[in-house]
Amino acid sequence: MNIAEIRKVISNMTLEEKAGLCSGADFWHTKAVERLGVPATMVSDGPHGLRKQDEKADHLGINDSIRAVCFPAASATAASFDPEMLERMGEALGESCQHEGVSVLLGPAVNIKRSPLCGRNFEYFSEDPYLTGVLAAALIRGVQSKNVGTSIKHFALNSQEHRRMSSSADCDERAIREIYFPAFEMAVREAQPWTVMCSYNRINGVYASENRWLLTDVLRKEWGFEGYVMSDWGAVADRVEGIRAGLDLEMPSSGGINDRKIVAAVKAGKLDEKLVDQCCERILKIVYRFAENAKPETPWDQEAQHLMAADMAAECMVLLKNEGSILPLNRADEIAFIGEFAEKPRFQGGGSSHINCFKTTGALEAAAGLKVTYARGYDVKADLASPEMIAEAVAAAKKAKVAVVFAGLPDSYESEGYDRTHMRIPDCQNRLIEAVAEANPRTVVVLHNGSPVEMPWIGRVAGVLEAYLGGQAVGLATVKVLFGDVNPSGHLPESFPIRLEDNPSYLFYGGEPRGSEYREGIFVGYRYYDKKKMDVLFPFGHGLSYTTFEYTGIRVSRETMKDTDTVDVTVTVKNTGKRAGKTVVQLYVGDVEGYVNAIRPVRELKAFRKVALESGETREVTFTLDKRAFATWRGEIHDWWVESGDFSLEAGDSSACLPLKAVVRVESTVELPRKYDMNSIFMDVMHDPKAAAIVSPFMQQSAAAFGNDEEKKTSEAASEAITAEMSLAMMRYMPLRSALSFSQGQISEEDMLDMIRRMNE
Ligand code: BGC
Repeated sequence: MNIAEIRKVISNMTLEEKAGLCSGADFWHTKAVERLGVPATMVSDGPHGLRKQDEKADHLGINDSIRAVCFPAASATAASFDPEMLERMGEALGESCQHEGVSVLLGPAVNIKRSPLCGRNFEYFSEDPYLTGVLAAALIRGVQSKNVGTSIKHFALNSQEHRRMSSSADCDERAIREIYFPAFEMAVREAQPWTVMCSYNRINGVYASENRWLLTDVLRKEWGFEGYVMSDWGAVADRVEGIRAGLDLEMPSSGGINDRKIVAAVKAGKLDEKLVDQCCERILKIVYRFAENAKPETPWDQEAQHLMAADMAAECMVLLKNEGSILPLNRADEIAFIGEFAEKPRFQGGGSSHINCFKTTGALEAAAGLKVTYARGYDVKADLASPEMIAEAVAAAKKAKVAVVFAGLPDSYESEGYDRTHMRIPDCQNRLIEAVAEANPRTVVVLHNGSPVEMPWIGRVAGVLEAYLGGQAVGLATVKVLFGDVNPSGHLPESFPIRLEDNPSYLFYGGEPRGSEYREGIFVGYRYYDKKKMDVLFPFGHGLSYTTFEYTGIRVSRETMKDTDTVDVTVTVKNTGKRAGKTVVQLYVGDVEGYVNAIRPVRELKAFRKVALESGETREVTFTLDKRAFATWRGEIHDWWVESGDFSLEAGDSSACLPLKAVVRVESTVELPRKYDMNSIFMDVMHDPKAAAIVSPFMQQSAAAFGNDEEKKTSEAASEAITAEMSLAMMRYMPLRSALSFSQGQISEEDMLDMIRRMNE
């Protein structure tokens, strides 16, 4: 149906029907208008599998949904640094939606992992906006290539669960633009999701669901979003305000209450009916896009997707530590698997993303046929490791060549709806790891968690494999990686601080009843740790391999560029080890001489590529950077702006290991508006070449009067009391008006005002 036909349908709808279309029919469906042939469509969670509920609907993952396939959660897929993989996963999800008649999959979830404590971190990708944006756009492309929509969520600043439905995320615009928006922005600009889901929280006091700046000015007018915005489930406070703001669909049903409010507001002349029409138009465009492209005959081969999920999980695993090349394990050796997660892995988080898996494969099952023994080690539910359990684990470890302890966060530790209260794994697991490592120093820990954990035993174990929440086939993947069938190639999409207290949001996270202040601003994750030169347990981007890579060269296509140009950066990398493997080439940009933009992170990820290399193979990887890679958000021009100057380009395979360095000079083509007055200080004036030329003669006069004129120095004592450098240094911060008093009449007020007028011309 084209837009004219959709408008025709809307023109035939009563006000009541139109208002009705602006909220769900039930938990998962849009409303049909039978008399006009408008079909209902279904939406379902997401994001890493299909949670289609037929009956007993709920949005918290409490009741069962159909049997489906649980792919690795976003915390894991982010570690793949592989957009092509995310696209493939999207295609598989899209096919399952087509098979099940689901028009929109509710995901991806792209909120920034601001603190390790956020209960839903497992569902989110990263602390880095660029990585998040690239991966989210890829997933969206994949799903939508099957003519199924996505709903990128939760727009925006939903980085905590604590008081999630009422709290205000109070954040400065620069951090919003540079950290919390870019993933949504990239996804919209590059992949055009069919829908966007607004978040529960307020942003600087205004609910996302009634935030016109968010939903209309930024999302639609700036970024060009064309689909419909739906509310998170129950996120609507004032529905009429929401219509004005650009919230098209309230989910789930409002039980008719808000439909009546919309009708009443239109009838009372308080709400323009055109706005209601517009919401209907946006909703119907998507309803028909799916209805006209529905392919219920699409096969859904769950067994094939299970294997696909296993391959993906293997692609995501991050080898954090591998002392003495303890991994890969040797098939001929006796290996002890210890810990209940070896048998029943934790592979997904709780809440609305919870998939009812048609099957799961744990590591123990996947290791059938290998010389693997098993000790349960701890009881997850009871949260205990009895002395007997520990003794059994120690005995198994002693007998084995290598002990592999499966540890991590139990379901109850991280879930939608509430935050973690600390960054530790259960004490019983920590005690078990310590005991096993003491019995056999050849101990490897496999971790299942959606977000960083403390590792008090890190110095006593030989290896650590971060498996994140790897989906229902995680056991297959774990065994493949442990025994070297797959060479690990995941890299951390977040920093692992040593302790929770090191995290930049620590003092303010969660906030007070009214809201949570994002006081660390742009300094989230490695942007903070790098700036503070702080030690972390494992840095952003880190990930080992069973082979080695050498970064051997970096070239830039130009040394100087305008901000309207692009620059190509070419990095050469070689596999110097004996096995084939994959590395993630990461390119970071830093402003090395900011004046106006002095407060910037040391480096920010601006490009990356995962490359597979045979042993001995060398490859060149080229990235193209444009203005955005160098820019910051400037509120005064309401735009991205680059400050002229040198920028560092650093490449390597982790934010902490960047052996290749180059510099590019970028010249800005946009001047920031400047306005001078009597209170402008000399330093700022002198930084502006035009103003500096005007003010220089005055400055000299004024310096002379201030005692900085060498000829006037009468005694050694005077020049020691205040040297030329000192007086110049002091002058830098003086307002222009002070030149009037210090010049003792040599500069008149009229001259000064005239000078300021010329500077402002
Ligand atoms: C969650 C969303 C989810 C929705 C529907 C909400 O509680 O925040 O992410 O898509 O429920 O289940």
